[in-house]
Amino acid sequence: MAGYLPDDFIDTLREQTDIVEVIGQYVELRRRGQSWVGLCPFHTEKTPSFTVTPSRDMFKCFGCGKGGDIYSFMMDHQQLSFGQAVEQLAGRAGIPMPRQTGAVSDDSGRKRLFYANEFAGQYYHGLLTGGKGGAKALDYLKKRGLDEKLIAEFELGWAPAGRDEFKNAALGHGIVEDDLVSAGLLGVSEQDGKKFDRFRNRLLFPIRDSRGRTIGFGGRVLDDSLPKYLNTSDTELFHKGEVLFGLDKARGQISRESTALVVEGYMDLLSLWQAGVRNVVAPLGTALTSGQARLLARYAKEVFLLYDADRAGLKATFRGGDGLLAAGVAVRVVTLPGGQDPDDYIRANGREKFESLLAGAEDLLERKIEILKRKLKLEVVSQRELAADKCLETVARCSNELVRELYMQKTAEFIGVPQSVIAERLRRVSEGAPRRKSGAGRSGDKAAEKKSTSAGYLLALCLRNPEYIERVQEKLGRDPFERENHERVFEAMLTAWEDGVRNIGEALYTNLPEELHPEIARLREIDDLEPAGEVFDRAWRKIEIGRIEERIRAVIGGKDPEGQSAREELKTLRDRLVNLQRELPGACWLIKN
Ligand code: UTP
Ligand code: MN
Repeated sequence: MAGYLPDDFIDTLREQTDIVEVIGQYVELRRRGQSWVGLCPFHTEKTPSFTVTPSRDMFKCFGCGKGGDIYSFMMDHQQLSFGQAVEQLAGRAGIPMPRQTGAVSDDSGRKRLFYANEFAGQYYHGLLTGGKGGAKALDYLKKRGLDEKLIAEFELGWAPAGRDEFKNAALGHGIVEDDLVSAGLLGVSEQDGKKFDRFRNRLLFPIRDSRGRTIGFGGRVLDDSLPKYLNTSDTELFHKGEVLFGLDKARGQISRESTALVVEGYMDLLSLWQAGVRNVVAPLGTALTSGQARLLARYAKEVFLLYDADRAGLKATFRGGDGLLAAGVAVRVVTLPGGQDPDDYIRANGREKFESLLAGAEDLLERKIEILKRKLKLEVVSQRELAADKCLETVARCSNELVRELYMQKTAEFIGVPQSVIAERLRRVSEGAPRRKSGAGRSGDKAAEKKSTSAGYLLALCLRNPEYIERVQEKLGRDPFERENHERVFEAMLTAWEDGVRNIGEALYTNLPEELHPEIARLREIDDLEPAGEVFDRAWRKIEIGRIEERIRAVIGGKDPEGQSAREELKTLRDRLVNLQRELPGACWLIKN
């Protein structure tokens, strides 16, 4: 790719790329402390001196001296140009490439959004601490035990009640209205199209990326009105599922201790911080996504989850926990007494008690087993089987072989059958699982998202040029799509095509239930489908690449990853992967979501 790639884009992409995962496709890596090691692909060796350090985004071979970041790895190992390396990694991460023309303005566009957020942070903080309107909010914070130092450190803010107080201040400061809207700071009225302050009458928590730049806000009301918290909706800078509140400040301590705490809310985090706990982060009101899990896994080897013990909290615990296991992190669950959250607990009991609570945290699978024992009637065979499957859900996600093995032992003991039986069932579960598991609704899995994007392109293409329907099957087999929605749409297309229907779009609306109509509408909206041949060639290859990557992960995580046949399969898979990647047409449009 000729010309100009904005630094900011290069940095963001490096940050969002899991260097271990990418290099792990080409080199077998094992965890060692903060790093991963393997046999150097750049020179011949028998003992591993090739080291990948995710917290620094670097690799280095202590044998031959080669080292660098993920871009230099891709350039040297895959013989790519810098531009090609960037493009390939962007495609993987599902991040749109800045267009060649206008790249300069794209970059300055992002800069303007950072600037708008930065200005907003200072403006709101000034109102909180400057007396007058913010006084009651400041009072509220102090009553909740937060002092001025912390309020300044996190640059907490106050948004006044008016509809355009912030807007006017920002416009007066020379920031253009469009940027304020794109940054999520202004909403647009549906009635008259007027722009108004999104945050009104709320206490504000600035949300920062891991480099400490403000990219959004969470805002809490001071009374019982609803919604209690309002967050910035997704913008070009802010993707809720990929940020962790507090990570910019906590990551140093998390790296040093190799341990992180995950709490549910802003106030939990601040309260722990106030008490001196510094290795804590919070997702933004959801279970930890797999993107957030991977982000955290770059700094932590062990994570303590401090969610509520209610139904929703437990669900979030196990969902987030399994994602962390998949990212290679050990997970422990802290149970807080009497429905308290970490904020309540530490204010009532102090730091020391809190620390001993952490020390008593149970391992994720043990916590699960304990709950299953309580909830199920294990003397009933079918319930015992259900319990086994519940445990296997967790076992199946473990990417660490040792932990996986231990979990298998534990499950076997709990269910009361030999471990070989559990291993066999796990094999069946994980072979059958991907289709079902990554079906509709599972969010955050990078590979699945990427596939669904390519899948979207293929389906959109078929909708417009039905002759591609058969070609999709030629390339990808009878079940070309993984997501259930895509599968159903494709089946309906195929039927219509085989019935000789000319207007496939209309047939879909008639033949598919209403719940799928938005999906059809989305597909019809995809418009950059030219040249069709190239779109097709790229999209099916990307899906195939995703399948191979998944298979590689399965083999590596499998029962006998060292065995002769596993080695051979890995070699074949890696060769096919490299070939497919080489064959990808160079255009970057497909990456656009
Ligand atoms: P909680 O309702 O548990 O609130 O939501 P909290 O953090 O304990 O806050 P306080 O102590 O009542 O002040 C936990 C997290 O869920 C998200 C927020 O991130 C919040 O911190 N949330 C909650 C929302 O995004 N929207 C909501 O309406 C409520
Ligand atoms: Mn709370």
